[in-house]
Amino acid sequence: MKVDVILGLQWGDEGKGKIVDVLTPNYQIVARFQGGPNAGHTLEFEGHKYILKSIPSGIFQEGKVNVIGNGVVIDPALFKQEAETLEAAGNILTDKLCISKKAHLILPTHRLLDAAYEQSKGDSKIGTTGRGIGPAYTDKVSRNGLRVGDLFHDFEEKYKKATERHKKILAQYDFEYNLPELEEQWFAGVEKLKSYDIIDSEHFINKKLVAGDKVLAEGAQGSLLDIDFGSYPFVTSSNTICAGACTGLGISPHTIGDVFGIFKAYCTRVGSGPFPTELLDETGQELRDAGHEYGSVTGRPRRCGWIDLVALRYTIMLNGVTKLVMMKSDVLDSFDAIKACVAYKINGEETEDLPFDITENIEPVWVELPGWKTDMTRMQSEDEFPEEFNAYLTFLEEELGVPIAIVSVGPDRAQTIIR
Ligand code: GDP
Ligand code: IMO
Ligand code: MG
Repeated sequence: MKVDVILGLQWGDEGKGKIVDVLTPNYQIVARFQGGPNAGHTLEFEGHKYILKSIPSGIFQEGKVNVIGNGVVIDPALFKQEAETLEAAGNILTDKLCISKKAHLILPTHRLLDAAYEQSKGDSKIGTTGRGIGPAYTDKVSRNGLRVGDLFHDFEEKYKKATERHKKILAQYDFEYNLPELEEQWFAGVEKLKSYDIIDSEHFINKKLVAGDKVLAEGAQGSLLDIDFGSYPFVTSSNTICAGACTGLGISPHTIGDVFGIFKAYCTRVGSGPFPTELLDETGQELRDAGHEYGSVTGRPRRCGWIDLVALRYTIMLNGVTKLVMMKSDVLDSFDAIKACVAYKINGEETEDLPFDITENIEPVWVELPGWKTDMTRMQSEDEFPEEFNAYLTFLEEELGVPIAIVSVGPDRAQTIIR
C-alpha cells in the first residue's frame, strides 16, 4: 500500500500533531521522518493535553506502530523525559514504538555547540530551539555522526572521540558549560532508549507496505524552514519537504500517496528570519492572543501575520500537495475583515513567485475578505459554516489550486471537520 505524508506548509506549528492523531485510525503505521526534539506537536483529547517532541503523534491510538525513522535526530535525555511523561499517564509504549538503528544521536556537546554558535552570531542569530539540531545534522553530513545502532558496538570509544572533537571547537568560543551534568542525564537516556525496539526501519516499513499496510509519514517543522528551499539561513537543518519522507524512511517516491499540506488560516513564525506578511501592530497581537501563539518547545511568543499565498503556492509546488488542511480557523472568528497576500511587489514590480531573497523590500499585495464573526468552535459539519467562511475557503482553493479537505476549528481532536 501507500505512504501518505502530512507536512507543514508554513514556518512550523501549523497543527501537524493534531491532524496526525485524527488520521491515525486510517493507518497501521505512523512514522516521523526528520527533525528531532526541536518539534513540539500538541495533541488534545478527552481533557488531556500532550506535547510530543520525538515520539510520533500516532502514539495515543491503539494497535498502531509508531516509528522514529532514520532521518530523525534523537537526544536520549529528552527522549527519556518524553517517554516517561507518557508512561506516567498510563500509556504503554513498548509494544507500539520502534526506533531506526540509522537515526542519528544528538550528543550533549551538540547542544552546547548550538548554544555557542548562536551566542557568537549576536544579532544575526537564527533563534534555534537550542536542541543541538544543526550540529547533529552537521556531523551526520560530514560523516562524523553517531547513530542509534552504534550504541551496541564500542560506543564509549566512539562517544569519547566525538566529544573530544567537539570540545576543541567549543574552546574557540567564549562559552562556559557543565558537561558532566548533561552527560549523566544523557547516558541515563541511552539506557531508556535501548529498552525499546531498535530496528532496521527501512526493511520494516517496506515489508509492511508489501503486506498491505498503510503508512502515515509525519513531518516536523514546515516547508519554509526546509534546509534547501526555506528562508535560508533562517531554517532548520533537515529536508522538511515531502522528499524528506523518502530519504528519512527509506521508501521509494513511487510509494507516496496523498500529501496533506497543513497551514494556519493566518501565518506565524518563531525565531529570526524574513516574514513578509508579519504584523507588528495591534492586529498581530490580536492574532497572537486569539491563537495562543507561544512556542510549545521554547515558550517564545510566535510572530504573527496574515496568510501568505505566494509562499503557500511555492510550498504546495515543492511538496506536490494533493489535499490541504486548514488549521485554527476559529482564531479568525472575531475579526471584521481578513486579509490575504496574493502577490509581492518588489521594487514596483508585482510577482506571484517567491523570490530568492525574501528579506528585500517586499510589499505584500493584499486582498481583503469579510470576516464571519461567528463562533466556529462547536461546529460539527461543513453545513454549519457561515457564508463568509465558505467564501474564504473558496477563495483559498481557487488561489492555491488544491482542495481543502479538512478544516480545524479548535485544538481538540473532536474539533475537526472532514469535508
Ligand atoms: P505542530 O508543531 O504543527 O504539531 O503544531 P503545535 O502543536 O506546535 O501548534 C499548534 C497549536 O495550535 C497547539 O497549541 C494546538 O493545540 C493548537 N491548535 C491546533 N489546531 C487548532 C485549531 O484549529 N484551533 C485552535 N484555536 N488551536 C489549534
Ligand atoms: P514543529 O515540528 C516552529 C525553527 C526555530 C528556528 C529554526 C532553526 O513543532 O512545527 P533549529 O532548532 O531547528 O535549529 O531551529 O527553526 N523551528 C521551528 N519553528 N516549529 C517547529 O517545529 C520548529 N523547529 C524548528 O525556531 O527559527
Ligand atoms: Mg510545534
